[in-house]
Order: sequence, then structure tokens, then C-alpha cells
Amino acid sequence: MQEQINKKNSNLSSPTGGQGATILAIESSCDETSASICRNGVILSNIIANQKVHEKYGGVVPELASRAHIQNIIPVVDMALQKAGCVLGEVDAVAFTQSPGLIGSLLVGCQFAKSLALALNKPLIAVHHMRAHVLANLIDRPTPQFPFLCLTVSGGHTQIVLAKSPVDMEVLGTTLDDAAGEAFDKSAKLLGLPYPGGPLIDKYAQEGSPDRFSFPEPNIEELNFSFSGVKTSILYFLQKHTKENQNFIHENLPDICAGFQKTIISILLNKLKKAALQTNITQICIAGGVSANSGLRKSFKEMGVKLNWQTFIPAYEYCTDNAAMIAITAHYKYINKQFSDFSVTASARATF
Ligand code: KG4
Ligand code: ZN
Repeated sequence: MQEQINKKNSNLSSPTGGQGATILAIESSCDETSASICRNGVILSNIIANQKVHEKYGGVVPELASRAHIQNIIPVVDMALQKAGCVLGEVDAVAFTQSPGLIGSLLVGCQFAKSLALALNKPLIAVHHMRAHVLANLIDRPTPQFPFLCLTVSGGHTQIVLAKSPVDMEVLGTTLDDAAGEAFDKSAKLLGLPYPGGPLIDKYAQEGSPDRFSFPEPNIEELNFSFSGVKTSILYFLQKHTKENQNFIHENLPDICAGFQKTIISILLNKLKKAALQTNITQICIAGGVSANSGLRKSFKEMGVKLNWQTFIPAYEYCTDNAAMIAITAHYKYINKQFSDFSVTASARATF
């Protein structure tokens, strides 16, 4: 179990000016069971239990994920309370990830949150996972000013979001096929790397030359993305070279990873630049699991300096799935009195 305690924030006042409450938040949309306590917009604890059980299958097995959530959820919530120095009696609202995600996984968090809120007689707050990724940028200072743009890159989604306020957001562009994280993971699988391959491609890319192998970038209209072509071109590239030399991947792994990563980063940042020009917005964020990528973080910051943007990236622990981002989103929903009734249920897909 991986613990992340945001000690540096515990003495700060809230960026919202101290409004709000003590919120217990739960995230269980995929293969991380996480709980967080947020008081007045300040994250006091963020406990994440990673599920190792999927590694040997090369991807998340939904049924195993649900079972692991059931096993993890009580100890994870207990730990989050303990680390925050908080007891259940102090909790003013219970928040959970309602959608999107794996339905069996979401249901565990949803039913747990509903039961707990009912038992405590406290309000329930349903949170959209992708909105929460965007608002992870509001956890640590400095925070972006509204309106801001966010490039959200995760295992299931790739979006450019216009955030007008914490509770008013619009998707300006999205992927037409695979998500950026999916492209990382599927290409990693072709390279013989275990799941999730994104962080491993990142690691090998740091040792390689990004200019030795290049892959074509798609020409997609407006602010939308496509990553399936890059994945296919990697497949054909590997087929061709391994036919000539069976050890091709082994001998060239860092350079292949660096070339692939450079292509993905270029696709992402070119669209983000286009969105910034179209909207005239210079407060720009990235978020989601792929925003943990060292190459993307570096290139994003460099682009920001060049184009006079103010750039924001969540701390690593708030990029991949975590309950702190659910808690900060719930904090703003609490202020805006956006509560759910107890008929609410989890949903694998949902409009933004
Ligand atoms: O946001 P996230 O934790 O879960 C979803 O909501 O999907 O994102 C997971 C994705 C996976 O595809 C994983 O490979 C990718 O984020 N990822 C990375 C890195 N760390 C996580 N991709 C590239 N480089 C990384 N350092
Ligand atoms: Zn996510």
C-alpha cells in the first residue's frame, strides 16, 4: 500500500478563503483504491492502494479489480482518517467517483459511500472522475486562475477542457479512438513491457535518442486527437525490424521509446497550443496519469515559457488516480450545494 500524506499543505489556509467542510472522498474507478480527507479545501491525507494482481495479465481484469476494492476499501478509509488525525464524527460529507470507469469497481466505492453517508446522516457528493483530474490542479499553490485550459491525459481519456469555474467545464476536444495512456500501454505491450507500460516507456525514453526513429503524426480536425495510427505504425515498424533482426527491440529499446514518446508529446502539445490560440487563454494545465510523464512535463513547461503561458502541473501523486482530486472537487461541490440524493448510482459512461 502506497501512502501519500500532503504534510506541506496541512498548515495552509484554503485557496477558497476557508469556506467548506471536512470531506471524506473515495476513488475506485479502475485499479486503485484510494481515500482522502480534505478540510476547508486542504488535503490532509491521500491513501492509495495499488492493485498488483493485474500485472501478470497485461491489463486490468475488471472482476479482480472489484474484489480487490472490496478488500481494500475499509483499511484505506481507516488509514486516511488516521493520517488526517480525523474521526468519522468530524466528517461533514462523503464523496465518491460516480463515473466514468469500470462499473464493478465504481459500484464498490458508490455503495460504500452511500452506506457511510446514510449511517452518518451526512450529505453525499457524486464526482465525475475526469472533472476531478482537471481540478487536481487546484490542490497545491499556486493555482490557475479561471478560465483555464487543461489537457487531461489518462488511460481512458484524452481531452482539452475549458474550465470556467470549479463547477463549470466544457470539453473542447477529445480523442476519436485510443487515449494517450492507452497508446503508451499498448505500444509498451508490443515492446514486451509489463502493464502499465507508460511509466516504463518514460523510464527507457530518458536513456534514448528521440530522433533516431520517427513515427507519423495524424492530421485530425479541430481540437480532437487520434492515437490508433501511431500504435499501428509502431506495430509495423517492429514487425519489419524484428524480421531482419530478432534482437532489434532488445538492442534499441531506449531509442524506440524516446522516438515514440516524442511523437505522442508532439501530438498532444500541438493541439494544446491550437486550443490556447483559439481561446486566447494563457493559464494552462495538464492532468491525468500521462501528465506524470517526465518528457511531457518538460516539453509542456518549455512550450509555456516560449508562448508566455502560466503553466500548472499537479504533483506526481495527484496525476495518476487518487482520492485527493475527488476530495477537492467535492469541496467545490459542497460550497455550491451540489449534493446527490441516495438514488444516485455508479455509471461506466457519463456525459462530461
Ligand atoms: O489517470 P490514470 O491514473 O487512470 C485513468 O483514469 O485512466 O492514468 C493511467 C494511465 C496509464 O495508461 C499509464 O500508463 C499512464 O497513465 N501513465 C504514464 C506515466 N504514468 C502513468 N504514461 C506515460 N508516462 C508516465 N510516467
Ligand atoms: Zn484517472
